[in-house]
Amino acid sequence: MVAILAICTSTFAMTTLAIGQPNDGKSPDSSETIKPTKPDPENGRTISRALCTNCHVIEEGSNAAAVNADVPSFPAIANKPNQSAEHISTWLLSAHGPMPNVHLTRKELRDLSAYIISLRKTKS
Ligand code: HEC
Repeated sequence: MVAILAICTSTFAMTTLAIGQPNDGKSPDSSETIKPTKPDPENGRTISRALCTNCHVIEEGSNAAAVNADVPSFPAIANKPNQSAEHISTWLLSAHGPMPNVHLTRKELRDLSAYIISLRKTKS
């Protein structure tokens, strides 16, 4: 648990470095309001590499050795029954187990969800 908390702290610091301006959800990103952008799974993958690989396997055959077996891999999450990008977004907005609440912009949330759901193989 102590180790996980240490990872959390460094992950949190990385968030600020990697994506700059956190968006607390109260002040919408004005460029996004004017011109909504499509979710970009490639960008979601980049964000995942920066923020999520401390705990999650984010794709088949990646950092499997480095992470805790108790944390579901992104492919496993994507292939849960009835999984959807909406469900992933909602889940990411709520408290995330041992992870501090990462401040993601709405676009980052959509991109991450689009990336994870792109790993889905099963149809249901
Ligand atoms: C500090 C470790 C840690 C980090 C970093 C982390 N996660 Fe998680 N995540 C977990 C754990 C532990 C679970 C399982 C929690 C549970 O099932 O209650 C989980 C579960 C999830 C789930 C499962 C939702 C479901 O339907 O079961 C999603 C989606 C998820 N994480 C996305 C992410 C994303 C995206 C990132 C990067 C922005 C991330 N996580 C970073 C620890 C982490």
